[in-house]
Amino acid sequence: MAKIIDGKKISQEIKDEVRAEIERDGIKACLAVIIVGEDPASQVYVRNKKTACEYCGIKSLSYELPSETSEKELIELIDKLNKDNEVHGILVQLPLPEHIDEDNIIEAIDPAKDVDGFSRRSVGALSIGSDGFISCTPAGIIELLKRSGVEMAGKECVVMGRSNIVGKPMAMLMLRENATVTVVHSKTRHIEDVCSRADILIVAIGKPKMITHDYVKDGAAVIDVGIHRVDPETNGGKKLCGDVDYEDVEPIASYITPVPGGVGPMTIAMLMKNVLKAVKRR
Ligand code: GUN
Repeated sequence: MAKIIDGKKISQEIKDEVRAEIERDGIKACLAVIIVGEDPASQVYVRNKKTACEYCGIKSLSYELPSETSEKELIELIDKLNKDNEVHGILVQLPLPEHIDEDNIIEAIDPAKDVDGFSRRSVGALSIGSDGFISCTPAGIIELLKRSGVEMAGKECVVMGRSNIVGKPMAMLMLRENATVTVVHSKTRHIEDVCSRADILIVAIGKPKMITHDYVKDGAAVIDVGIHRVDPETNGGKKLCGDVDYEDVEPIASYITPVPGGVGPMTIAMLMKNVLKAVKRR
């Protein structure tokens, strides 16, 4: 029986800490959130980010742009927000429509306002261990592990997935915590054997319920970054599942994150922390 890592509770603690500091020190913080187009999932994320800002006492500015918005127009808006001293953080919700180059947009954001931690400057700072904004999902996973008492130093950690937003920064962060880190991906050979060595297995592969007990060592801590909408009839009445087959893995793991209520809520809590950091760094 695994201990369940309660991301809802831990994310609430973090938002409460941010809110208390903002209230105590009379801090004025402002996050600009930009969304282009009408992707329903992105609209939900953006709405949740605005709600969290309100809770923490952070002002949020909202820019909802039509999907035909050009790259130039978007960069002009970012430039305006870069120059606005009232704005501390700028977040452009991804993915963007295909005619807009995401890399150009991320690089247009002033690094001092890059609260998503996606820019080259932020990623570079993380790689060399200097201070900077850290991508919210992997930063949230570190908080989950620390606040649940999972030791990282000296442990074997396997990160499944190598995306710029999760897998790569996750590996860097685990290295910073003195874990021994392996990254596996679609071309990795004997992937089950490699994963079965992990004391801490972090799964961000985007495949519903792919990870069964065959990938997991007895007593491992298992962190599930995936979230998928599935047919409740074939999933024991549940509408959502992760990359991990929870029912199959939970009996042999020492710690496990549920979906929903594990990693998901942490991303927004860490965004709030990054906005506060942007204010304090200035
Ligand atoms: N799309 C999915 N996750 C994220 C995130 O953390 N930040 C932004 N900006 N877009 C996303």
